[in-house]
Amino acid sequence: MSARVSGIDAMAFHGTQYYLEMADLAAARGVDPDKYILGLGQRQMAVATPCEDTVTMATVAAHRALERFDIDPGEIGTLIVGTETGVDHSKPVAVYVHDMLGLAPNCRTFETKHACYGAMAGLTSAMDWISAGRARGRKALIVASDIARYGLNTAGEPTQGAGAVAMVVSEKPRLLELDPTSFGDYTRQVMDFWRPLYSKYAFADGHYSIDCYLDAFSGAWRDACENAGSWDPLRLDRLAACFYHVPFTKMARKAHHRHCETEWGKKVEREDTEQVAAIRESYDQQVAPWLELNSVVGNIYTGSLFLALMDYLRKAQPAGGERVSVFSYGSGCGAAFGTGVVTPEAAGLAERLDPATHLEQRRKLDMDRYEELIRLSETADHNEAPYPDPADWQLDRGLYFVGTRDHVRQYAGSAADTP
Ligand code: CAA
Repeated sequence: MSARVSGIDAMAFHGTQYYLEMADLAAARGVDPDKYILGLGQRQMAVATPCEDTVTMATVAAHRALERFDIDPGEIGTLIVGTETGVDHSKPVAVYVHDMLGLAPNCRTFETKHACYGAMAGLTSAMDWISAGRARGRKALIVASDIARYGLNTAGEPTQGAGAVAMVVSEKPRLLELDPTSFGDYTRQVMDFWRPLYSKYAFADGHYSIDCYLDAFSGAWRDACENAGSWDPLRLDRLAACFYHVPFTKMARKAHHRHCETEWGKKVEREDTEQVAAIRESYDQQVAPWLELNSVVGNIYTGSLFLALMDYLRKAQPAGGERVSVFSYGSGCGAAFGTGVVTPEAAGLAERLDPATHLEQRRKLDMDRYEELIRLSETADHNEAPYPDPADWQLDRGLYFVGTRDHVRQYAGSAADTP
């Protein structure tokens, strides 16, 4: 029996109301701004107030995807939230989102965790749910929502960020068809990035984590080739665009270099000038144009890969039929590589998913306010803490976290009003 094709039918992004300029962070840390802007490839970084959490960002992104793509909440039969930044050791973010969106009681709802890979795990599970015939005409809602926190004065500080990407997966996708049989997987126990239950901040062995990411790429790519029976359908010259997990945009460049090396079966050194030029040309066409959103939002862990896909879908004006690749990496580590085909309707829907208006409304933080926000994130969700107040951050409309009372998280406002 051949697998039923499914794919991404709707998408939306929601981030934070504030951001920091990387040049300001570099100046405060006594670092050459080019290290962050060119070396890491980041221009700005989204910063969450204590009133913006994984639940509020996920709910607003999901509400936006349903509304902009005219999908009735009653059509959703599975809801999965992929996150590294859960708000409870037991209760899933997804069940708050389920309630706030008014989804049906018979909607299967859960949270997935595997560092930055959680949403890809959710997406492939949703494809399997459809392929197994369990959807009965319903759609799946997958939300990637995270706040990346390494803390002040750490090597990871310039690679923070926050935001959520919501995706509706259906049997008749309007944006991207995905073939579940084209996906390859990779898992290996490594200590490259982790966050113990007692810590708000991630621990990372930064340079080692880059090596782990690249090895996971080769592993998942090889598995995808085995699943496809040959590497021919996955060939780089057949791909219109390649999307990678993007903790910082330079990482996508390193990943593309490894992609070329893995396909060619050859390590490419600086002195291999012809091959270096070929990789550069392919990177400039297939990867670099679609990293703009990542460069102004920062690392959003589970959603980073899908933010690059959104950038392509909002700008590329594809004719339909273009094959693209997706690679998700979650530290620890787990990874998946697969391909999809852009639909002929996608170009006509570009405006609906474009987050430009939302991003233009963000407000710039100065360094004092930024440092205050990072410190506040350590205590904001303690029981009976001084309650976070949206008015303190001039957040006058929208859905916000307003503190924990009697050990129960409290939310105020509505997703529909959030700018
Ligand atoms: N002008 C231009 N470029 C400069 C420069 C300057 N003045 N100074 C430095 N650079 C370049 C460096 O050459 C380097 O580029 P290459 O990697 O291409 O050589 C780049 O800027 C970064 O410099 P360093 O490697 O010296 O930076 P660092 O040691 O301070 O740390 C980091 C970089 C390891 C990424 C660190 O920010 C970190 O630990 N981040 C968190 C971990 C992470 O993001 N890992 C990614 C893989 S794991 C993953 O993807 C999962 C996840 O989301 C966490």
